Amino acid sequence: MAEASVEDNFNGVAVTPWQVTGAVDYDKLIAEFGTAPLTPALVERVERLTGRKAHHFLRRGIFFSHRDLDQILNAYEAGERFYLYTGRGPSSEALHLGHLIPFIFTKYLQDAFKVPLVIQLTDDEKFLFSKHDATLHPLDAYIQLGRENAKDIIACGFDAEKTFLFADSNYIGSLYPNVVRIQRAVSFNQVRGIFGFQLSDNIGKIAFPAVQAAPAFSSSFPHLFGGDAQVPCLIPCAVDQDPYFRMTRDVAPRLGYRKPALIHSKFFPPLQGAEGKMSASDPNSAIFLSDSPAQIRKKVNKYAFSGGRDTVEEHRLYGGDCSRDIAYQYLTFFMEDDERLEEIRQAYASGRMLSGEIKAELVQCLQPMLAELQAKRQAVTESDLNRFMQPRPMSIS
Ligand code: TYM
Ligand code: TRP
Repeated sequence: MAEASVEDNFNGVAVTPWQVTGAVDYDKLIAEFGTAPLTPALVERVERLTGRKAHHFLRRGIFFSHRDLDQILNAYEAGERFYLYTGRGPSSEALHLGHLIPFIFTKYLQDAFKVPLVIQLTDDEKFLFSKHDATLHPLDAYIQLGRENAKDIIACGFDAEKTFLFADSNYIGSLYPNVVRIQRAVSFNQVRGIFGFQLSDNIGKIAFPAVQAAPAFSSSFPHLFGGDAQVPCLIPCAVDQDPYFRMTRDVAPRLGYRKPALIHSKFFPPLQGAEGKMSASDPNSAIFLSDSPAQIRKKVNKYAFSGGRDTVEEHRLYGGDCSRDIAYQYLTFFMEDDERLEEIRQAYASGRMLSGEIKAELVQCLQPMLAELQAKRQAVTESDLNRFMQPRPMSIS
């Protein structure tokens, strides 16, 4: 098994499910993790098969790497269905902009391929891996965060007819047969190599990777797939989650299952600069889905790292550095209009556009987007939530 352990921390760069630090070199990561680059030819193939323009996350290389995506496309082309699987570890009240990336992209995939989707809320994971005292942050708190996060996720617009959302604390019974099969097939040595576990870690942590692996096998969802254990699975996520699925792919053949395919995104950077990833643990590094228009403006103006020059004169003369400018970087994620984005890039890089102006562009882009998500979230009722989370047959033929 290709193993990139948490100790593979060179030049201060680390990419693990719990930590992303340093300026990640994504080409190096592809080589180190043993994934494949998402080539323009594959993007074109997605366009051809779906009959629609590729999502800008694909056109702009934000989803940059994959495992066996070509095999999913082969199956789809041959008329075979597949399903999508993604997830969220409920650690904060609201999702931040970084968490949105895989969900926005998954919604596009669901619409474009018209396939069923399962979304795992790992309330168990966040409880087991929490550094807080378990009496102050009990399991129930994570279960509640999961329900709050589920509303943010539903607000992304997933099709209720094709989406099953589940929390581990509740759905584990149906996952359990596959969890046990996976646990039987993986040694402590292997998970220690992949995840860096210590002998003093609680035993729940050590067993948890099997819980994140199980939804990648279709027999975990008998109400959806009628016991069919061979429905191919495609997992969209940021590349930090890849270690879980290296393990999953390693055990799959031994259980008689297909290996899940993956499509990986880059990290949405923190406000302070293009290193690491936006993280919920530092509220000033992140813009949350719950932020007001005034908070968005304030965070962008006050904290967004600028690639502009020290003085207006120098800026006009030398231009801004888009590769380091957070306002520009964020626009590449959220401004859909390619032409407008290119105009902004040219204006900023040539010095015609100033830092304050590019930040204003970003604020104008984010405020309506988040206002719309907030309105949709407001409209999600408890009964909507229960409907998404009810194991039920779906019209997915
Ligand atoms: P979590 O809650 O840490 O993150 C949820 C999803 O968001 C991605 N992500 C980001 N993407 C871009 N930029 C960022 N700054 C950023 N921060 C987080 C994560 O990669 C993830 O896709 N253990 C998982 C939950 C999970 C899961 C899954 C995720 C369970 N099953 C299957 C993906 C696929 C977790 O704690 O994610
Ligand atoms: N009605 C679907 C069908 O007959 C049920 C199904 C079985 C399915 N396996 C699937 C749907 C895999 C999507 C993916 O094809």
